[in-house]
Amino acid sequence: MPGIKPDQTHRSVTEREEMFRDIIDYSFEAIIVHTDCEITYVNQTAASFFRTSKEALIGSDIFSIFPSSSRGIIQEWIQKAIKKDEAVLRMEEKVMRADETVIEAEIHSRPVTFGKKNMIQTAFQDITYRKEAEKILNDREKLVSIGQIAAGIAHEVKNPLTAVKGFLQLLKESHSHPYLQTMENELDKALLTLQNLLQVSKPDLQDELLVPIDFCNELKSLMLLFQDKLYDVEVEMDLRDRGIRVLGKKNLYLKAFFNLIKNALEAIPEKGKIKIVHYAENQWLHIEITDTGIGIPKDKLNMLGTPFFSSKAEGTGLGLTQVYTTIHEHGGHISVDSTPGEGTTFCIRLPITEET
Ligand SMILES: Nc1ncnc2c1ncn2[C@@H]1O[C@H](COP(=O)(O)OP(=O)(O)O)[C@@H](O)[C@H]1O
Ligand SMILES: [Mg+2]
Repeated sequence: MPGIKPDQTHRSVTEREEMFRDIIDYSFEAIIVHTDCEITYVNQTAASFFRTSKEALIGSDIFSIFPSSSRGIIQEWIQKAIKKDEAVLRMEEKVMRADETVIEAEIHSRPVTFGKKNMIQTAFQDITYRKEAEKILNDREKLVSIGQIAAGIAHEVKNPLTAVKGFLQLLKESHSHPYLQTMENELDKALLTLQNLLQVSKPDLQDELLVPIDFCNELKSLMLLFQDKLYDVEVEMDLRDRGIRVLGKKNLYLKAFFNLIKNALEAIPEKGKIKIVHYAENQWLHIEITDTGIGIPKDKLNMLGTPFFSSKAEGTGLGLTQVYTTIHEHGGHISVDSTPGEGTTFCIRLPITEET
């Protein structure tokens, strides 16, 4: 080439090779190339993704990066990817990292040929957060529809029961029988349950006005209502970012936090502690209620908020339904973290709206 010395050409080729290698090595995608089932190439992003080194992955079995339960699916998927006529294959599957943690990944595969060798190039993307968000949305939709069904039934059952109550009262006027009073008492209990259910699953958000709420003050006042229960329970209040106000339906919120604190106290069998934290961060007000109570078994966590789910002999199972409905109706989020035998934390996040 005129004007370029041979060593300069050589250097620029090497530099370009290095640059391309770096681009692929540190590309945003975790890339693995495999021949049938043996891993033959791994970029640096993939090594970090699988929490190991390139050397440890190269030469190993492709099945080693998936949980053993996925073996059948992966085998089928490799067969499909090998077929040249197939376009890029996409699937969502769990993958297993070197430290044995399992995460959800979106996987793209396509056949590639290097020299005469047919191989499969596969790219991995972590979609754990997306999956979690989808699950929260699903659970929330499920909760809303269960609430709606329950409210519908409550409404239908309430009317005939109210009629029965009316006739019972008429009967009491003309006849006196000790059973009649018992029947009326039982009927009143049933009507109260239905009334409560209607109230919590369809909170009358339309009626209550939005007002600025200072949760620091409200939480302190709420705790006073539980004074008689606080002999054996220590209460710690860590109220930061005082003065923050959140627009909302005050009565609904007070009822929700009352229900959360009541549950926390009821979870503590003898002595224990409740901690309430309040702070603001990135336009969200965070309120956390932690107790050192009995905790919630993992398989029951997704039942929380479902009407009538209760583990207590005298429980209604409507407290958390009211809590979840109220938080969601205000555009907030609620999550639970619990360890059986150690305790539970409910984390609530409410949007801080600018006051106008
Ligand atoms: N802080 C908590 N610690 C342990 N379990 C809890 C806690 N909060 C709620 N739960 C569980 O969730 C269930 C439903 O709560 P809730 O809707 O308030 O109904 P209830 O209190 O009437 O049982 C409770 O019965 C209990 O099993
Ligand atoms: Mg309760």
